[in-house]
Amino acid sequence: MILSIDQGTTGTTAFVFDKEGNLLGRSYSEFSQYYPQPGWVEHRAEEIWSVTQRVSAAALERAGVSATELSAIGITNQRETTVLWDRKTGEPVHPAIVWQCRRSAGVCKAHEGAGRADWLRQKTGLVLDAYFSASKLQWLFERHPELAARARAGELCFGTIDSWLIWKMSGGRAHLTDHTNASRTLLYDLASGDWDAELLDLFDCPAEILPSIRPSAGYFVDTDPRCFLGASAPITGVAGDQQAALFGQGCTRPGLIKNTYGTGCFMLAYAGSERPEAPPGLLTTVACGPDGAPAFALEGAVFNAGSAVQWLRDEMGLIRYAEETEAIAHRVQDTRGVYLVPAFSGLGAPHWDPTARGTICGLSRGTGKEELVRATLESIAYQSNELAGLMSQALDVPLACLRVDGGASANNFLMQFQSDISDVRVERPVQVESTAVGAALLAGIGAGLWQPGKRPESLQEVERDFVPQMDTGRREELISGWQRAVRACRTF
Ligand code: G3P
Repeated sequence: MILSIDQGTTGTTAFVFDKEGNLLGRSYSEFSQYYPQPGWVEHRAEEIWSVTQRVSAAALERAGVSATELSAIGITNQRETTVLWDRKTGEPVHPAIVWQCRRSAGVCKAHEGAGRADWLRQKTGLVLDAYFSASKLQWLFERHPELAARARAGELCFGTIDSWLIWKMSGGRAHLTDHTNASRTLLYDLASGDWDAELLDLFDCPAEILPSIRPSAGYFVDTDPRCFLGASAPITGVAGDQQAALFGQGCTRPGLIKNTYGTGCFMLAYAGSERPEAPPGLLTTVACGPDGAPAFALEGAVFNAGSAVQWLRDEMGLIRYAEETEAIAHRVQDTRGVYLVPAFSGLGAPHWDPTARGTICGLSRGTGKEELVRATLESIAYQSNELAGLMSQALDVPLACLRVDGGASANNFLMQFQSDISDVRVERPVQVESTAVGAALLAGIGAGLWQPGKRPESLQEVERDFVPQMDTGRREELISGWQRAVRACRTF
């Protein structure tokens, strides 16, 4: 039996799989989000830990499995979120600063002003943005000099959520992370595959606080029965959630691409063991090769996707629940020239424009709820399409198939429109929890239960294919309208 823990931004889900890849039980719980100032987002790491303990126990109970039967545990997590805790007591010394939090934008601006962006991009594959962990840490140490002194004295540990959970699950015996999570900090050098002294210097980050980095599949540590589930089991798989989803979707051959449709969209293209040349606007990140060893991927993040549908529901009151958008969008032939660009928090990849704002273009007196709902769904596909085009160009492979997962991948209208607008086959698996599947696979490979490259059949099944039905002229016309709308949202 394998326990797979998916610690996401808004909640934790635990899954129990058997050796054939059958899902035996799952449990989910949300936890609190804190917004102390506009643009700031915090979590309480202790709450994440207690929720994780609770859902893990509940998933085992639902599966009718005892903790003593666990052969492997996999952990996958929201990335970049920064936790700092006391090495002796295991208590966090500050609320966790979430990846969405913009508080360290000033730190990034200062580095940019000093002309460091290109050098950083070359070394880390990332853009100089508050999204990643390093500027969050620098902000913490600048604001709290007492923490900086304690960090230098070796009294504190830094970790992304994977490290924090490994620490708690092992009763404070292991301070570890994996390459995929490390590659999201701006402190990790893609060429050496390790923390980098120059990067640590730049962000004024003491090396004493860093976890050791391990491959994503392999032995990390045994859990401490006094802290977790009452029985000891080995943690043998760890990866950031988007890399875990890429692995779970079987994207371990160059050119294979997955897109996760959640609050935002995360598109990753597997590139192999050679570092790809990333076009401006896309990130280079560490992914998992067939055996879990570090490999490369290109990544693009769309900040607002499912969140735009939530906005229709919660702020506009146009819908009651997200699922009804599929039927509403189908009620009209098209949006009658309406485009909605949900740049609520600026634009992510490939534009990286924090000043852009949400925009609706092309309204006429006849525009109704149906057109607006449809334009919102279409915006998710247009944004993803921009990334897919760049990725296939960069990897020099034709885009043949897009593997999809995440909540909004259940929306058939959206999937068909994605296929039409990107002129690509869209493939939806039976098990859309690709992130958890990826962590389970890594843990199973790490524990020697499964051979690399041989996924259990049940985890490979495709539920539905969507094939393009739109003619080229129409596609080009729609995309050019979208591009005009994006220009408008950036110049408002
Ligand atoms: O980079 C942030 C990403 O890992 C968050 O994913 O699924 O928790 O929103 P999710």
